[in-house]
Amino acid sequence: MKNQVRVSSTTTPWPLTTTMTPSSATAADEGDLAVGGVRLAEIAATYGTPAYVLDEADVRARARAYRAALPEAEIAYAGKAFLCRAMIGWIQAEGLSLDVCSGGELALARHVGFPAERIVLHGNAKTPRDVQDALAYGVGRVVVDSTYEITQLAVAAHPGRPQKVLIRVTPGVDAHTHAAVATGIEDQKFGFSLSAGAAADAVRQVLHWQLTERPALELAGLHCHLGSQITSVDVFAEAARRLIALMAWIRDEYGVVLPELDLGGGHAVGYCDGDPDFDLEQYARTVRAVIAKACRQHRLPVPRLTVEPGRAIVARAGVTLYRVLTMKRNPGIRTFVAVDGGMSDNPRPALYGSAYTARLIGRATTAASEPMTVVGRHCEAGDVIARDLPLPSDLRPGDLLAVPCTGAYQHSMASTYNQVCRPPVIAVRDGVARVLIRRETLEDLQARDVSL
Ligand code: LLP
Repeated sequence: MKNQVRVSSTTTPWPLTTTMTPSSATAADEGDLAVGGVRLAEIAATYGTPAYVLDEADVRARARAYRAALPEAEIAYAGKAFLCRAMIGWIQAEGLSLDVCSGGELALARHVGFPAERIVLHGNAKTPRDVQDALAYGVGRVVVDSTYEITQLAVAAHPGRPQKVLIRVTPGVDAHTHAAVATGIEDQKFGFSLSAGAAADAVRQVLHWQLTERPALELAGLHCHLGSQITSVDVFAEAARRLIALMAWIRDEYGVVLPELDLGGGHAVGYCDGDPDFDLEQYARTVRAVIAKACRQHRLPVPRLTVEPGRAIVARAGVTLYRVLTMKRNPGIRTFVAVDGGMSDNPRPALYGSAYTARLIGRATTAASEPMTVVGRHCEAGDVIARDLPLPSDLRPGDLLAVPCTGAYQHSMASTYNQVCRPPVIAVRDGVARVLIRRETLEDLQARDVSL
């Protein structure tokens, strides 16, 4: 029968029922999948491989889910996860704010006219140009992260037209995540340590620029970001308690009541079948209750909450398509499947040991599955995309593989290692595919090489 998919369950390592796929993913005939109503094999045929596919409706639905779960809060999408002009347009249309962490991200937001007051600028080491650009565009808040930056910003700001700032506090809360993305604990480059008194010093410094006749800064609130891929809600609750205690101290010490509390992002996403997911509803309930209780205890008004999800908005909307270039069977050791991408389009397995899964698309098979490791084409043994997956034993060069959950921190961290061009980003929606970011060409790469 034409429309019946004949895929044996053993060869379906990522069933469509899991949370890591775009919500619009459906089975299509001949072993294919459709996302946003467009068949993935058709996208590969039209735009080539590797290619990142992004489901617009999925991104927008997750943005709306955040707004519905936390209607009283500001949701600032963390653009470092994935940013392009269309993405900025989607999150703007869904009523989100934008967290940028560089002059480059800010420039893109400015280019499409994203409202300046809804932009939050981050960075532990902002360049003088970042600071100038932020002031020139009038960003809503700058999250200050060092004493030098506070002085730099205050001196550059227009006296009498104070720049709103949040102080990034390191609350000493361990979110039990990968060391490379654990930012709530002491002894690291981000933030002002709460326990060492650096946060209190930063408050004093900012208020020095605020409590004068012609203020240059205005302390709007406190910020923390505990890390990434966090599954526990309790750690956010603990951080909120600590930051509200600091707010109470600021009120007692200086008579200043802060209106904002930013708890950062870091909400986990499951990358493989069975991985735990972040419970947004529980987060909303718990954090709301904890903040209300702490404020009652300290007799503080409840500050406006900001949260900064990046991955949780965009990761699951993305699927990467690769073509198998070659295979190597080492009996008793391992079968390698080499594809036409790798660590240049997805550095996460090499950087963090992240696990991914992959699935044959575009061809039906009833072959039994066997463990295979999907590797890239780069000159490193660590160039692995997914280890020991069940893939059909009749897999062969020319086949297409789809890797789900690749919408966050793939394109944004892609490189041109080995002079390999970065893949395009193809958006899908209502049966239509369109190029958001075109494939990089060798001419693009060579254009920067300006001298012999
Ligand atoms: N807010 C701040 C201040 C951040 O530094 C980050 C991420 C976020 C929000 C968003 O975090 P998310 O909700 O996306 O976890 N390259 C790593 C992730 C680095 C995250 C850096 N900061 C990865 O691929 O896992």
